[in-house]
Amino acid sequence: MVDRTESYIDANQQRFVEELKQYMRFPSVSAQRAHDKDTRACAEWVVAHLKGLGFDAGLVDVGGQPIVRALMKGKSSKRVMIYGHYDVQPEDPVAEWKTPPFEPTIRDGILYGRGATDDKGQLWAHVKAVESLLKTEGELPCEVLFLLEGEEESGGDALPRYIRQAKAELKPDAIVISDSTMYDANTPALTYGLRGLIAMEFTIRGPAADVHSGAYGGGIANPAMMTAQILAACVSRDGKVLVPHFYDDVVPLQDWERESFRKLNFNDQAMAKELNIPRPHGEAGYSTLERLWARPTFEVNGLFGGYQGQRSKTIIPAWATAKITCRLVSNQDPARVHKLVVEHIRSVCPDTVRIEINDFGTSPPVLFDVNDPTIRAAQEAMRKGFGRETVFIRCGGSIPVVSTFAEHLGCPVILMGFGLDSDGPHGPNEHFSLDSFVKGTKSAAHMLRMI
Ligand code: BES
Ligand code: MN
Ligand code: MN
Repeated sequence: MVDRTESYIDANQQRFVEELKQYMRFPSVSAQRAHDKDTRACAEWVVAHLKGLGFDAGLVDVGGQPIVRALMKGKSSKRVMIYGHYDVQPEDPVAEWKTPPFEPTIRDGILYGRGATDDKGQLWAHVKAVESLLKTEGELPCEVLFLLEGEEESGGDALPRYIRQAKAELKPDAIVISDSTMYDANTPALTYGLRGLIAMEFTIRGPAADVHSGAYGGGIANPAMMTAQILAACVSRDGKVLVPHFYDDVVPLQDWERESFRKLNFNDQAMAKELNIPRPHGEAGYSTLERLWARPTFEVNGLFGGYQGQRSKTIIPAWATAKITCRLVSNQDPARVHKLVVEHIRSVCPDTVRIEINDFGTSPPVLFDVNDPTIRAAQEAMRKGFGRETVFIRCGGSIPVVSTFAEHLGCPVILMGFGLDSDGPHGPNEHFSLDSFVKGTKSAAHMLRMI
């Protein structure tokens, strides 16, 4: 049977993509104050677009970047809340982009530009699904509430604060989020678990200024070496985090999960090839998928200090800094793990240097029940939209507000990702397959009908 909404989506694909390109031209980089105006302009543009579709839409200002809120009634009074984020990561390293990050460009059926997959393109699939239902059926099958934030990428808490304050009037029956991934380009997936995160940096300080390493080397602690030794005391050579009690609250993989991960037949060699590394690496005793999706980590994101110029310079640097994050899994409590990590770092830091630690926010892990009937309905919607069996996966990334949804809104959360890890989110040449965009739009339309 021909589905009129699907036909409308096919017929209007090009315009949908042109609009998405317009949306992507806003450099809505929430981490950088210089882009505050662009970020707000982007939110205003989305509001205007949703108003054009007939939504009761506006910006909610609770401090920080504005929240886009837009509501439309439908046939049933069931309310589906669609979350997304209109902010994006900084464009750097800018020299590595083949075409400029904020000038979206299509090459071989793939749309390139910052935000293509994370998260402008994925959100746009839902906006266009709504338009397509309205134009072909005259009204929406259920109520739709868009709630979009502008500080997901920069650890802001405007949306969590708003949720806590407005939960009595939000009252969704289901929450839908497309800000994660498919299993691979041919395998649509629903995500039932996201990892959490804690982020911090520590600085080791030695002498007041860089000093001659011949004059003082061997006589005083070297801050760069102390930083390396502290880090080495945090993770073993075979990938175990050495922070005492770090793993205490980790929910072990259930048998069905281990089995379902195994059936996905993850190809270690393919990943190694894609990333140009000799082979995967990580915690001993777990498969790569288990380590990516269901095990916590300790990572160094940045390491600096000392001489960075050409040739050699014989100094003992005055200081060195390490930026670190831990990915967490259910049921690790970010506050507790944060405390454990700080205590461990302090305890292994020798008293011949001084240490300073700065915190950069946390995000709790989430894990949902794959047997929830709403999640099963979404699985059927994805199967229809993509024309393929839809699998359940976990994802290694974090979406901080999801735990606030789960805690305060008490309804099922559907994570229907249309992206791929290989889309290059956060990196140069971020992209999104237009084929996934169209199939995602169809899936989103089916989903609103089936919930
Ligand atoms: N969309 C991602 C999260 C994601 C990535 C989920 C891949 C599933 C698969 C999100 O925009 C993101 O980048 N989150 C940050 C959160 C951090 C800045 C607090 C992350 O995971 O690093
Ligand atoms: Mn995202
Ligand atoms: Mn992101």
